[in-house]
Amino acid sequence: MSNLTAPITPEHYRKVMGRLPTGVVAITGVDDDGNDLGFIVGTFGALSLEPPIVTFSVGHTSSSWPRIRRRQVFTANVLSSTQVGECRALAGKGPGKFESVAYTAGPLGAPRLRDSIAWIDCTVQAEVLVGDHFMVIGTVGAMEAADGEPLLFQAGQFGTYQPLGPVPSPATTGA
Ligand SMILES: Cc1cc2nc3c(=O)[nH]c(=O)nc-3n(C[C@H](O)[C@H](O)[C@H](O)COP(=O)(O)O)c2cc1C
Repeated sequence: MSNLTAPITPEHYRKVMGRLPTGVVAITGVDDDGNDLGFIVGTFGALSLEPPIVTFSVGHTSSSWPRIRRRQVFTANVLSSTQVGECRALAGKGPGKFESVAYTAGPLGAPRLRDSIAWIDCTVQAEVLVGDHFMVIGTVGAMEAADGEPLLFQAGQFGTYQPLGPVPSPATTGA
């Protein structure tokens, strides 16, 4: 049985939350000088359908987000299983992250990565500091999907999605 009074260490939090598979999304934007910026999140998700709103969380130590935030616009690029290299490049630190990344500028000026399976162009609607992360809430201005397999992350490893195929219901198994 779990001990509700024991402190939750970062290692334990990571281990338990790591059981939850996530998509891998590159948040991209530009700074005031037009430099391309980006970083990777596993916290991107849908928040509202009408109006269309999305969310992600970014650590308060992020160097890219404070520069992207100044323009109040970003693009969320949903990575495909072919984009592990792009993921590693953008999850790094410092300048030159886009040197090996293929992209075009989207309608907001933010990079749209080639070979991604979705692009979601957003305006920042709200941002809340929660613990050690900013929870960013974005209103969707435009969005597009493309064919391809998603890149997933679980328990510290990259993978992709494997459909189960038809799953028999209790009525057809005779149980
Ligand atoms: C699979 C994966 C998921 C990640 N998810 C997040 C996340 O949700 N929020 C976050 O702040 N950083 C996340 N990171 C780490 C950032 O991408 C990383 O800290 C990046 O270097 C930040 O770059 P910056 O300092 O240029 O902003 C993730 C990294 C990987 C590889």
